[in-house]
Amino acid sequence: MSTGRPRWKQVTATVRLQEPRGVHFWLDLDVPSAFTAPSPGQFVQILLPPAANPALLPRPMSVASVRKRSGGMTLGFLYAPVGLGTHALAALRGGARVEVLGPLGHGFPLERKGTPVLLAGGRGVAPMLFAAAELARRGRRAEFLFGARDRDHLVGLDDAHRTLRVLGGRLQVCTDDGSRGRRGNVVDLLESAVPRLETPLVLHACGPHAMLKAVARWALVHGCEAWLAMESVMACGTGVCRGCPMPRSATARREFPEGAPSLLGNRDYAMCCTEGPVFESRALDWERIH
Ligand SMILES: Cc1cc2nc3c(=O)[nH]c(=O)nc-3n(C[C@H](O)[C@H](O)[C@H](O)COP(=O)(O)OP(=O)(O)OC[C@H]3O[C@@H](n4cnc5c(N)ncnc54)[C@H](O)[C@@H]3O)c2cc1C
Ligand code: FES
Repeated sequence: MSTGRPRWKQVTATVRLQEPRGVHFWLDLDVPSAFTAPSPGQFVQILLPPAANPALLPRPMSVASVRKRSGGMTLGFLYAPVGLGTHALAALRGGARVEVLGPLGHGFPLERKGTPVLLAGGRGVAPMLFAAAELARRGRRAEFLFGARDRDHLVGLDDAHRTLRVLGGRLQVCTDDGSRGRRGNVVDLLESAVPRLETPLVLHACGPHAMLKAVARWALVHGCEAWLAMESVMACGTGVCRGCPMPRSATARREFPEGAPSLLGNRDYAMCCTEGPVFESRALDWERIH
């Protein structure tokens, strides 16, 4: 965990592409070269222009892809329009301007020794696509397990296939209703994949908290590392408002007898935006996460 100087900046970004991807949307934003390249698992805060913003506060979004271009880079996002802010975001067209603050938080430690296993649940696939691309860039083989409630919610599957082809890794899918891939959830998929994977495994996951809780439990029982991208409602994204607390486990609380360093929260709660959003599973108290 680093408590060093944050490397985020707020920049004006331009919408390059906005298109429906099944039940979700894909958004490409051009940011200037002053913006630090994000790593997989990090996120940004997107603030809409005043005239188009019914939500007041910015909305956190995981980076799903990064492409360098002359004069800066293009950040890709895969998102679900669920409320005021994301519906307004979906209404923006090419050329529209937004403010982007980032990159924020800590991403996945993809350098850890072991076989990387990427687990994605529903729209939680967004940062996992970026993680797969980064592993491919580093020439590392990975296992990609992708689950959703039904085939319509396996958005991003084609992107995952494309990346995995380069990587030479394996992609397996499952759905709760069995409409595509195996019937069941990603933990069932993990269980079935384990016998042919070289240990130690290092799990990296993003999805609904219920799924992450199941992954955390599996990792604990099998004695392997799991790095989980958590979500919380956020306001500032930089540790100032104290609005995104995640309960620390008893082990993690012992690390901070005097309290946590500034911006990381306190002894009892970690701030999701600055200490996460990616946490090692043993850092959190899963009994108190819903
Ligand atoms: C670090 C991080 C990364 C994220 N990455 C993505 C992403 O890649 N793609 C994506 O689609 N979404 C992502 N989200 C969730 C996204 O930020 C929320 O869906 C969004 O803020 C909702 O804003 P809204 O104004 O549309 O909804 P609101 O009108 O504010 O709320 C609509 C409903 O969504 C709920 N809600 C709001 N924020 C969250 C949240 N963070 N988690 C769960 N429920 C929430 C509200 O309680 C309410 O029920 C991420 C969130 C975090 C914290
Ligand atoms: S969102 Fe403000 S402290 Fe995390």
